[in-house]
Amino acid sequence: MDIVRIDQIAGHEGGGVILRGWLAGKRSSGKLHFLQIRDGSGTIQCVVFKGNVTSEVFEAADHCPQESSVEVTGTVKADTRSAIGFEVDVTGFQVIREAEPYPITPKEHGTAYLMEHRHLWLRSRRQHAILRIRATLVKAIRDYFDDNGFLLVDTPILTPSACEGTTTLFELGYFDDKAYLTQSGQLYNEATAAAFGKVYCFGPTFRAEKSKTRRHLMEFWMVEPEMAFCDIDENMRVAEDFLVSIVARVLEERQVELEVLERDTAPLEAVQKPFPRVHYRDAVKKLQAAGTDMSDGADFGGEDETVLTKMYDRPLIVHRFPTAIKAFYMKKDSEEPEYCLGMDVLAPEGYGEIIGGGEREEDPEVLRAAIKAHGLPEDAFKWYLDLRRFGSVPHAGFGLGLERTVAWVCGLPHVRETIAFPRMLDKIWP
Ligand code: 4AD
Ligand code: MG
Repeated sequence: MDIVRIDQIAGHEGGGVILRGWLAGKRSSGKLHFLQIRDGSGTIQCVVFKGNVTSEVFEAADHCPQESSVEVTGTVKADTRSAIGFEVDVTGFQVIREAEPYPITPKEHGTAYLMEHRHLWLRSRRQHAILRIRATLVKAIRDYFDDNGFLLVDTPILTPSACEGTTTLFELGYFDDKAYLTQSGQLYNEATAAAFGKVYCFGPTFRAEKSKTRRHLMEFWMVEPEMAFCDIDENMRVAEDFLVSIVARVLEERQVELEVLERDTAPLEAVQKPFPRVHYRDAVKKLQAAGTDMSDGADFGGEDETVLTKMYDRPLIVHRFPTAIKAFYMKKDSEEPEYCLGMDVLAPEGYGEIIGGGEREEDPEVLRAAIKAHGLPEDAFKWYLDLRRFGSVPHAGFGLGLERTVAWVCGLPHVRETIAFPRMLDKIWP
């Protein structure tokens, strides 16, 4: 008899199979036990009928606690009432290791309790749906860039300097020196873009954010494309095309999971080109007209983004932020240097920023002055300035935060469930 994964069960209708997994739930009525067996690929009902098994097997199934690891032998039969279309008539049942009383029961638990048991919570249907959608997004992201002429070049995690401001750096000892966990691969991407034209990196990034919000993690995954000979308009076009493509993939491949999450898919189906493009100045006006206390020249707060995105039925691109509030590498708008060529893409339905990027300063002297004005050590950026000395070209790119994207696509209220083991301001457990 074959050992079969539950997602492959359809190919075994009428045949005998061995399933290996965990007892997710159980219901009994007289001569019958209905076992929910989960093996990671799916969950299937296995029916133990007293008349079909030895009394030892019937007793073992009766006494087996939730989350024990088990091996079930039986015959696959079609069943229209089953969510996956099949169930198993059990002929044999063996407990591999009996579980202790399981702390997560079908009753409602608070989120704090579930987060304490995150290592076990991952076994639930809801977490399966979220993490499967995350995996599909990762694959769709890679496919998009791989299929569009971008080369994957990994950037370092241990770095000697800041990319996104010095206030959120995680510092560590590096032998006799200091190093920081990367906040963004961008600066290195600019070097590899000058080597390969179009590149992307995709990995974990770290920010010591003193923000306890539904949008912030200390460790999050970011995909960052960077393109040589690219201006802000082309950068917006790529970001738009890319987002449309990855959302479409989830709609294509993850309907079942979206249903588990009770996600209304209409707003995802509306993610089509073109996305509206709004100058920062006009976004501020819209926010003020809506009655928020947004002040001209400031960065958007989470609440401002929520209000703004609810004005549109699809992602919104805000461009040309005040130079004063943006990173040192941003190129200024030549017509209005108080604004820079930065752009953010805000996800609809109140989610807010999921992409940040823009056109980079390409002039070595302007860049040197900006490094100085931001109080950054010029020495640490000597190699970065070199990129402007040897064949500098207009170039642009962006970074998409994976967890915020997963939260939006799944319709979750908080990023904490979008990654298996979230690192948060007040919590690095388990
Ligand atoms: O806007 P940010 O800071 O942009 C950059 O890091 C650029 N260097 C990227 C580039 O141009 N290559 O961050 C990009 C995205 C944000 O839009 C957001 O989605 C995500 O990264 N992000 C976070 N996600 C979760 N928790 C945090 N603390 C995040 N900080 C940024
Ligand atoms: Mg940003």
